[in-house]
Amino acid sequence: MTATLTAPGALRADDGRLVLEVAGVVDEVPGTRTLVLRRPGGGLLPAHPPGSHVVLDCGDRRNAYSLTGDGSPCEEYRVSVLLCPDGEGGSAFVHRLAVGDIVSASRPRSAFAPVSTARHHLLVAGGIGITPMLSHARAAVRWRRSFELLYRHRPGAGAHLDELRGLCGDRLTAYTSTPEMLAAVRAALADRPLGTHVYVCGPTPLIGFVEETAAELGWPGERVHAERFSADLDAGEPFTAVLARSGSRVPVPSGTSLLTALEQAGVAVPNLCRQGVCGECRVPVRSGRPLHRDLYLSETERAAGDAVMCCVSRSVDDELELDL
Ligand code: FES
Repeated sequence: MTATLTAPGALRADDGRLVLEVAGVVDEVPGTRTLVLRRPGGGLLPAHPPGSHVVLDCGDRRNAYSLTGDGSPCEEYRVSVLLCPDGEGGSAFVHRLAVGDIVSASRPRSAFAPVSTARHHLLVAGGIGITPMLSHARAAVRWRRSFELLYRHRPGAGAHLDELRGLCGDRLTAYTSTPEMLAAVRAALADRPLGTHVYVCGPTPLIGFVEETAAELGWPGERVHAERFSADLDAGEPFTAVLARSGSRVPVPSGTSLLTALEQAGVAVPNLCRQGVCGECRVPVRSGRPLHRDLYLSETERAAGDAVMCCVSRSVDDELELDL
């Protein structure tokens, strides 16, 4: 389960993970690199809903990256990764990969799929948040769904911009000015037809703006969809973890993760990424409702409510009883 970069053929595909070869490297714009990933020797890769991501082994950590294809069966996946010099090394690892390197990735996971019954899809992207939106836009074009895309990027750093212009035509509006983008988002939220769903991915302030403006304008929550970068999670509400086997009660203050609170109480929990992507810190839940904030559990697993990724997820209720 540890992160791996080895010579071709030396990597084992354990726990259902995919062994992929870097078949191409494309520098989209300064700082953003696209990897083209294929099975060594070729062959179809699993299909996935638009907006899915894979969790890639990146040196000593695992990071989630959106797949930019439309999700139909194909022989290659593409991910675009922004180099984060102040990050924890995952993006730098990706930027060091070269054609022929072998990497391990999870199967695609879906947490940001389009709603097929939506009358119209309003896509809002900021910066590298364009990657799941490219997947959505491709699928919308393929299936002839009504959509539009509002994309804020830095001047000269709009990843996939030319590709999107060709794909979307006048359904794409690109901005380099944040105030102009936010004004356009507000105007779109104010007058799009009933039955529209909005999808947003990008920096936390942009997501917050969309969610708050939509709520202010009366949008039902189920028509507002956000894809967050896990490192940007808010502090969350305090709650108490009840350890069923010992009867211990562990307070989890706002700003402290459940994982950290357990560790400070002397309870060891396996972990790796501490960002909700690798799946190492899964803890069984006996009662109470987890507040899922990870990128690991499937929608079905989330709905079951019997497990929590304790590095990032919290509790809806005041108490969460864990099978520890
Ligand atoms: S430590 Fe990786 S998901 Fe929690």
